[in-house]
Amino acid sequence: MATPAPVSKAVIPAAGLGTRFLPATKAMPKEMLPVVDKPAIQYVVEEAVSAGLHDVLMVTGRNKNALENHFDRAGELEAVLSSKGDDEKLQKVNFATGLADVHYVRQGDPKGLGHAVLRAKMHVGHEPFAVLLGDDIIDERDPLLPRMLKVQSELNTTVVALLEVDPSQTHLYGIATVEPTDEEDVVRITGLVEKPAPGTSPSNLAIIGRYVLRPEIFDVLERTEPGKGGEIQLTDALQELASGPSWSGGVHGVVFRGRRYDTGDRLDYLKAIVQLAVDREDLGVDFRPWLTSFAAQLGAAEAPQDGEDG
Ligand code: G1P
Repeated sequence: MATPAPVSKAVIPAAGLGTRFLPATKAMPKEMLPVVDKPAIQYVVEEAVSAGLHDVLMVTGRNKNALENHFDRAGELEAVLSSKGDDEKLQKVNFATGLADVHYVRQGDPKGLGHAVLRAKMHVGHEPFAVLLGDDIIDERDPLLPRMLKVQSELNTTVVALLEVDPSQTHLYGIATVEPTDEEDVVRITGLVEKPAPGTSPSNLAIIGRYVLRPEIFDVLERTEPGKGGEIQLTDALQELASGPSWSGGVHGVVFRGRRYDTGDRLDYLKAIVQLAVDREDLGVDFRPWLTSFAAQLGAAEAPQDGEDG
């Protein structure tokens, strides 16, 4: 078997309307929402870069200007900070500028994740590539992508990240049926289904937003019919590869057991910010004791008072 080309490109779909966060996302993409003090998308680009993927393609929708500006020079701001000698803030501003070689393509019609990935075809060419979804932030202390890249190159396969979720959550994800391999936490995927109805899920292994795909996925996506929600689903295309002929390399999963933060809806977004803030060197020291006492107050307010039932 020919040695697969090393992965150098990351594709980040960023064309969603972000309606769960309206009105914040009326004029700004949801990927720019701050998680503590960094836009969600910067965490994802940093993750790609630390896994060695310096070429980043963002598949954008309307309001892409804020994204482009974030990863570009900010001359006026830089000049003001420089004249004040505020090197620390200047460094924060410049960091995102030099982070990666960022490219943009418009999705056009929002026809689903599979369609967004298909828009990357010209840019990606004939190499395997990674896809990172902005709603999932993987803690930098628990690297996931490097393991996925290793599995991809060793087995010349397609790789998705899997997470064991509570059975009540399976209807929110693509769900995998798997069989074990010799390698710990690496599984062979025998079937995939997008967002199964509650009570019908074949397992509790959910796809989280990290994929390492082979370029064959584009041919499959081109013929993938709209599925769940009337959208072209990446999961459906992966299912075809999982059940396809052996030349397709099949699909493998890396089961992730590290820290992952979901920023996809408002409640999870709030939790993500709190979890990341308590661990921050600059904020945690003050935030942790405040949070502890705030939680104690909440607990006291919610505890049944003397004389109350229950
Ligand atoms: C998408 C995918 C789904 C996957 C999820 C991970 O769904 O379609 O298979 O499990 O991302 O976050 P979305 O969350 O965009 O609805």
